[in-house]
Amino acid sequence: MSEPLVLGIETSCDETGIGIVRGRTLLSNTIASSMDEHARYGGVVPEVAARAHLEALQPSIEAALAEAGVSLHDLDAVAVTSGPGLAGALMVGIGAAKALAVSLGKPLYAVNHLVGHIAADTLDTDAGPLEYPTVALLVSGGHTSLLLVRDLTTDVELLGETMDDAAGEAFDKVARILGLPYPGGPEIDRAAASGDPDAIRFPRGLSRASDLAKHRYDFSFSGLKTAVARWIEQREAAGEDFSAEDVAASFREAVVDVLVTKALAACVDHDVPRLLLGGGVIANRRLREVALARAAEQGVTVRIPPLSLCTDNGAMIAALASELIMSGRRPSTLAFGADSTLPV
Ligand code: KG4
Ligand code: ZN
Repeated sequence: MSEPLVLGIETSCDETGIGIVRGRTLLSNTIASSMDEHARYGGVVPEVAARAHLEALQPSIEAALAEAGVSLHDLDAVAVTSGPGLAGALMVGIGAAKALAVSLGKPLYAVNHLVGHIAADTLDTDAGPLEYPTVALLVSGGHTSLLLVRDLTTDVELLGETMDDAAGEAFDKVARILGLPYPGGPEIDRAAASGDPDAIRFPRGLSRASDLAKHRYDFSFSGLKTAVARWIEQREAAGEDFSAEDVAASFREAVVDVLVTKALAACVDHDVPRLLLGGGVIANRRLREVALARAAEQGVTVRIPPLSLCTDNGAMIAALASELIMSGRRPSTLAFGADSTLPV
């Protein structure tokens, strides 16, 4: 099929994303978030997210169809995230996708959320077609993964991932320590703007020579979070004043440094002159700035899609299914379920 019309459903975390694409053309991308409901808990509550998906799905599908100017009967396929993600949240999207596909008699594609993040880039018309191979760094509140993409539909290799907290989660936790509201990423970014990134040397997780042998492309942020908490406790116990802006800037610098260093090491090791960034943490100004500057020094080009395609969304799921269809892949059977740890 040359340019399939695909509706994608994404419910792996707190965003109910419905996207419609035709081939590599984005027609609509509606996002309903339950973020506000999680704010008072300081993180996503799975049960709350699942209920919110249930409520948001129907109106979101209608809105996406209206925005794209198509009807359900026009669709060539339905796509849905089957993992990784929160099992209960995934199940809501999968149930809706199966019901839609069966009732419409359309093929159904179960796709991987992480590969979907990479597929989002196929919709970025300003950047031109996705070129291979490319290294992909995906950083959000739920994941921090480094991947080597030789082909989007047949050859995506996970090089490394976080051993504990995701990068966005670290931003959220440190923001909480600093008394800033959830989600913490934008708050830390704002506070850091007037702070000194070199004021405090916080640890770079899994970056020592002894760590690199086994964890060259893996990340760890929980030690960094603890280091920030301890540093503040010590100042408070001593009755010393400190600048929250300096803490925010120094913390942000440690996260950005380790993300960019490891991503560029993967480019050099695999002789890949391309780096693709995705996930909500890409909103971080310093991350984009450092990635662009250090990549340029190494002759690596960086692709950063618009933020609406970086954060969790349904269009990326539709985009991946569209690629699968265009490459001749057969649809999924109905036998799949939610797989919270689905590998790439
Ligand atoms: O991709 P996303 O919208 O949702 C998922 O986590 O799946 O990412 C949200 C995460 C949150 O942890 C949030 O704190 C972080 O991205 N974030 C940021 C920034 N904006 C959002 N982290 C650092 N700097 C930012 N400017
Ligand atoms: Zn995601």
